[in-house]
Amino acid sequence: MKFDVVTIFPRMVIAGLAEGVVSRGIARGLLDVAVHDLRDHTTDRHRTVDDVPYGGGPGMVMKPEPLARAVEDIRTRRGNPEAVVLLTPQGRSFTQLEAVRMSRLSHVVLLCGRYEGMDERVRELVATDELSIGDYVLSGGELPALVVIDAISRLIPGVVGDEQSVEQDSFSNGVLDYPHYTRPAEFGGVRVPDVLMSGHHADVRRWRRKTALARTLERRPELLERAALDDDDRALLDEIRQSTMGSAAQADPANRKE
Ligand code: ADE
Repeated sequence: MKFDVVTIFPRMVIAGLAEGVVSRGIARGLLDVAVHDLRDHTTDRHRTVDDVPYGGGPGMVMKPEPLARAVEDIRTRRGNPEAVVLLTPQGRSFTQLEAVRMSRLSHVVLLCGRYEGMDERVRELVATDELSIGDYVLSGGELPALVVIDAISRLIPGVVGDEQSVEQDSFSNGVLDYPHYTRPAEFGGVRVPDVLMSGHHADVRRWRRKTALARTLERRPELLERAALDDDDRALLDEIRQSTMGSAAQADPANRKE
């Protein structure tokens, strides 16, 4: 899969690609990531990429021409991308589902914004998609671009060594991950749950699914509305609700007997 990143901080992006899963994917020839300095597509002596906003107000706005030229140059030298993505807090949410969809593409361009924003005509004429990595404001799209590349890359067969571990990841089936333990059997006075050391694979599977569902119900109940749940899952959720309702009722001061 091919990625092109357009940024005014190429070294920041290159540094983020140099370690871990993404760098291994690049070394194995499964990923081809090119980082482009937006200033190389300016035409003035000062290599200007921003300007004051029409209508006044604070901050600067990224000019449309260098961005449009950078994408044109990518089309000429690297081929036509299937998506030109603008990273912005105004975009639709980048989720695991979105990562799965994008992992089926073969060429994606990522445009990193800086300053107060980008000229609206970049959205209209250059970008095909706008993505946000979360409801918070970062100082630019460079970290979001790295986040997007990482999440997509690990879904490409061969990039992560262990396919099974990718399939079992948190969110890949719409619920949070179960708790993990390794040796020692006791640490800081906390023992590994007996079931994990019992050797009963069916019990282990059930315990893991139940704790995953319980965590999701407690921390991210909204995920359960869209998760792929079967009858066994629903039965486990009923069990969880029964037992937590009892303890929640006890913990709730409104229900306490005087
Ligand atoms: N640029 C600044 N903040 C961002 C965010 N949350 N997601 C994507 N791009 C951004």
